[in-house]
Amino acid sequence: MEQNEKRKVVFSGIQPSGNITLGNYIGALRNFSSFPDADCLYCVVDLHTLTVRQNPAELRKRTTSLAALYVACGLDPEENIIYCQSHVPAHAELAWILNCFTYMGELNRMTQFKDKSAKHADNINAGLFTYPVLMASDILLYQTDIVPVGVDQKQHVEICRDIAQRFNGIYGDVFTIPEPYIRKASAKIMSLTEPTRKMSKSDPEDTFIALLDKPEDIRRKIKRAVTDSDGEIRYDPENKPGVSNLLTILAALKNQTPEEAAAVLSGLGYGALKEAVTDAVITEFTPIQQRYNEILADKEGLNAMLRRNAEKADYLARKTLRKVYKKVGLFQL
Ligand code: TRP
Repeated sequence: MEQNEKRKVVFSGIQPSGNITLGNYIGALRNFSSFPDADCLYCVVDLHTLTVRQNPAELRKRTTSLAALYVACGLDPEENIIYCQSHVPAHAELAWILNCFTYMGELNRMTQFKDKSAKHADNINAGLFTYPVLMASDILLYQTDIVPVGVDQKQHVEICRDIAQRFNGIYGDVFTIPEPYIRKASAKIMSLTEPTRKMSKSDPEDTFIALLDKPEDIRRKIKRAVTDSDGEIRYDPENKPGVSNLLTILAALKNQTPEEAAAVLSGLGYGALKEAVTDAVITEFTPIQQRYNEILADKEGLNAMLRRNAEKADYLARKTLRKVYKKVGLFQL
């Protein structure tokens, strides 16, 4: 690489709001290590989780657990900035400024807001509404070029781009305009019991596989996964959502297309399909779980890593925040 060529910046985040699922893993987490030539930041976005009521002790536990999972999934914490959002105050500070550059109408169109307010009708708080602005702050603070996310977050990256362009239009080139990075092979993983709905960590246990599930749980859940009655292993999400979802999982873990995965199993029964999926998932998760347990066993080491990386993130974030404060006319001493 040219010496004075700017290295690309990659930023992504996951909420520590539940068990990390197979869907999170295939859609986001496992793609995080695909940028060896970039400066990568992977954030545990704890502030975002507060838009839905959390159990405080659980939230604390899940936050360190998710940080450990990042490392267990192969992200080297010396090469990547792995940190916790609330440890870098600039996220919340920039969010306030950007709130003043975001329109109610734009936020009203966000499908996640509509979904979540339907699901939590008793707690449609302002944070839930301005959630995408905090996410935009996460991304823009680091002059991010690339945002690896699942398809469901595309709309949020788009509003982030709109906010950045609007701001740059007024004040000059303050923010890098980020691009979403959505892996084609990382198609949406659906619920095991209701395969027309997205696999979600906030749904009941038997609908998803968690990254930390024991092999026997993985086996049981896949065994009970909904299929259909025509008995043919064929990729057809429209008419065969259950079977197609299993093929999608298998294909993603074997770096195949779902059609290729189906071809390998053609003529066999659903039992064979489920067995193949179970094996693939267990083979993938076992080494991750081993590393996870080792990392968690060294709490001090984990905390020290998070502190070091939060300092690095803070340094970078402050640089952008100072520029923004100056541009909008906040008096600085
Ligand atoms: N909203 C994302 C999700 O629910 C999480 C997130 C927060 C994020 N900030 C981010 C993802 C910044 C990418 C970049 O999945």
